[in-house]
Amino acid sequence: TEAIVTVDGPSGVGKGTLAQYLCCKTGFHLLDSGAIYRSLAYGVLDQDLALDNLPGLVELAENLPVEFIETSILYQGQDITAKVRTEEVAAMASKVAAIPEVRAALLKRQKDYAQPPGLIADGRDMGTVVFPNAPVKLFLTASAEERAKRRVKQLKNQGVDVNIRQITQDIMERDERDRTRKTSPLVPADDALEIDTTDLSIDEVCKLAMDQLWK
Ligand code: CDP
Repeated sequence: TEAIVTVDGPSGVGKGTLAQYLCCKTGFHLLDSGAIYRSLAYGVLDQDLALDNLPGLVELAENLPVEFIETSILYQGQDITAKVRTEEVAAMASKVAAIPEVRAALLKRQKDYAQPPGLIADGRDMGTVVFPNAPVKLFLTASAEERAKRRVKQLKNQGVDVNIRQITQDIMERDERDRTRKTSPLVPADDALEIDTTDLSIDEVCKLAMDQLWK
């Protein structure tokens, strides 16, 4: 029905870069669902909410005071763009993301991004749960070593001081949690095209993805 392209895959695989590129090329809207989970995690840490406080978590997820203005993330009007990029926030994001009620509470907000002329949806369960009828589904993979390398490079560019061994460990723990959770685990949709990006440049990945769009 709608022009939706889902881009799913694990951490550091280059989903964000590809999603941005596809947005530029198509003029479609962008849903960075990871940024929603990270913003929720920021709120959980900020309010010191316990992970077993289910009503508190659901209430926050349903009324998350976050706004995405161009490339900035505003939480209660405060710019948290840089703050949500840390692995501390990412780890908390993957913990709250494992709670089914929390995922359900964020569903409508994500579906509402499907607006003309179309949507590029970046995440873990875009093709399986949020937009199961999307006509184009991509699932990116890459070796854990390559993903850790890319994440280190990205964080360095953002001025964050990083340790490759620590990042590799953080990413592997998070992947394991994302893959093994009971609700919306990180798996490719049956009808997704899997692209192993380990030995591909960003340009090559973008070109492969564009070929899918106009098929
Ligand atoms: O940037 P990176 O790929 O490392 O992470 P992200 O996309 O910002 O997502 C952070 C965390 O949010 C992931 O590790 C997942 O646990 C969770 N997430 C999710 O469960 N479902 C999504 N659609 C997007 C993110």
